Amino acid sequence: MSSSANLWVLLGLGLAGIVMMTRRLKRSIKEDFGAFIERFELLPPAPPPPPKAPHPLTGLTFAVADIFDINGYVTGFGNQDWMRTHEPAEWTSPVVSSLIEAGATCVGKTVIDEMGYGITGENKHFDTPTNPVAHDRIPGGSSSGSGVAVAGGLVDFSLGVDTTGGVRIPAAFCGILGFRPSHGSVSDTGIIPVSPSIDTTGWFAKDPIILRRVGHVLLRLPYAGLCKPRRVIIADDCFQLSKIPANRIIRVVTKSTEKLFGRQVINHIKLADHLASMVPSLKQLLKLNSNGDLKASSLKSLADAMKLLHSLEFKDKHAEWINCNKTAVGSCISAQLDASLNANDRHIDHCHSVRNEVRLAMNALLKDDGILVLPSIPQSPSKLNSKEVLSEDYQTRFFSLLAIASMSGCCQVAVPLGFHEKSPVSVSFIARHGGDRLLLDTTEAAYATLQEQADIVAKSNLSSSREESAEMAKEKGNTAFKEKQWQKAIGFYSEAIKLNGNSATYFSNRAAAYLEVGSYLQAETDCSTAISLDKKNVKAYLRRGTAREMLGYYKEAIEDFKYALVLEPTNKTANLACNRLKKLFQ
Ligand SMILES: *[C@@H]1O[C@H](CO)[C@@H](O)[C@H](O)[C@H]1NC(C)=O
Ligand SMILES: *[C@@H]1O[C@H](CO)[C@@H](O)[C@H](O)[C@H]1NC(C)=O
Ligand SMILES: *[C@@H]1O[C@H](CO)[C@@H](O)[C@H](O)[C@H]1NC(C)=O
Repeated sequence: MSSSANLWVLLGLGLAGIVMMTRRLKRSIKEDFGAFIERFELLPPAPPPPPKAPHPLTGLTFAVADIFDINGYVTGFGNQDWMRTHEPAEWTSPVVSSLIEAGATCVGKTVIDEMGYGITGENKHFDTPTNPVAHDRIPGGSSSGSGVAVAGGLVDFSLGVDTTGGVRIPAAFCGILGFRPSHGSVSDTGIIPVSPSIDTTGWFAKDPIILRRVGHVLLRLPYAGLCKPRRVIIADDCFQLSKIPANRIIRVVTKSTEKLFGRQVINHIKLADHLASMVPSLKQLLKLNSNGDLKASSLKSLADAMKLLHSLEFKDKHAEWINCNKTAVGSCISAQLDASLNANDRHIDHCHSVRNEVRLAMNALLKDDGILVLPSIPQSPSKLNSKEVLSEDYQTRFFSLLAIASMSGCCQVAVPLGFHEKSPVSVSFIARHGGDRLLLDTTEAAYATLQEQADIVAKSNLSSSREESAEMAKEKGNTAFKEKQWQKAIGFYSEAIKLNGNSATYFSNRAAAYLEVGSYLQAETDCSTAISLDKKNVKAYLRRGTAREMLGYYKEAIEDFKYALVLEPTNKTANLACNRLKKLFQ
């Protein structure tokens, strides 16, 4: 090869390298985190000349989820076919124009889940916006781009729609504030409906002062002194639905509340019990679905009612997009969304009764001055493309928390509380339907203290609270074990071990579950660990004996059973096993 040919080869390789590098860069850091569908500027009117006060939102920028109409632009609704088959809007949604009139500049439209339906932020039609605080995790949906635009510092605030969590989930996943106002308190004109009896316009911000100011514009609230809660009610049972250690949140809220409003305002409640006694329609719905215990499952029943209402109303609004023939009509929802719409409308009346009764029950609990405290979400955001998000269990755990405000129409704010194991933590406050001002004021008043306390708790020795959480995980494991859900039990015991690796019981319990699924090697290893932590753990010897017997290590198995007999001479299980094995040998 001549030297000039070599040069060309080198050049070619170099270029290929550059192309590959830019590709990789593009994938890892998408421009603007991929939050926007389209960028433009809608400028506010000139501010009034002094001495008049400037507009309340002067100098702020905001983005709008692609479900709000903006004059001259097609509202895409998270679906390319929809975008292709619809004309540009002829006027702007009043929610958007009221913000512009109040002095803010609208800078573009953001990505949403397909037809506003999902909760993950993953959308087959558009690239998934990148979660700015956890690049390998889902951003949450449906208003994924709006959450990401605020979290990434691209705008001061943004609008989204919250039906089953569309604002609260992205806020929690991206570590920012998200507000879902009382149902019906903000105009829904010029917004594509998803499920009208639970849809609300919501907004995101990083700064609680901006969150409140936007609220005052959209809710037309008078500016007055901050109101304070007289009761801060911690929903203990809701924290049990969460995989994030309860104390990571409860300690922060308790300490902050004591400092700001006094210890006497703190109460605890089991919300499921309250709803079970106050919402008779839930009972009817539960009877229709199963014969379970309402006290234990009223939150799940509420979630079921919400899922049903959501899917029925969505089908009603967008019937022609469902079960359609793509070649004939040219536009359809994706198969995955279609599959989630399997409800039938026999129970719709129950859903409406549940909705009304839950509102009464929540208003009776919270009155004018109460705030309910619960986790915003039951776990950290999942990895991108994870199958977990499709599971029934995953959705039930999310919706058991999210349905409380969606179904009651009460207002809710998601507030970030720093990070736990590199993922954002979020607490939620709920006020009664119409209590938006109390909620916005409380958030503004408490925000700085909450962040301070979150910092202290995150830095402090969480070992004792880790131990408590480990115990909780073990309890969940025991429950799963009793229900013969072996894999689930293994999951919980593994979680307990991760939180506290010094407990022989956790290893020994996981071994029992491993034995049930035939993972004898793992069972043996776990038992050995348990024995090294606690030399007198009879169960660990018995289980290791069983594992070794199954693996064919009969001599070692006998040793284990014998040792169990030394520790507990009357144990029949050990005795029987010893005799059985001895016979095998002879
Ligand atoms: C869809 O419509 C096209 C054109 O009308 C037809 O040829 C095709 O068989 C239809 N497919 C289904 C699955 O109905
Ligand atoms: C943190 O916890 C560990 C384990 O419980 C303990 O040994 C250590 O002294 C604690 N450190 C502080 C600063 O409290
Ligand atoms: C044998 O010991 C184990 C562990 O202490 C215990 O769980 C089990 O009930 C005992 N079995 C009998 C038959 O005594």
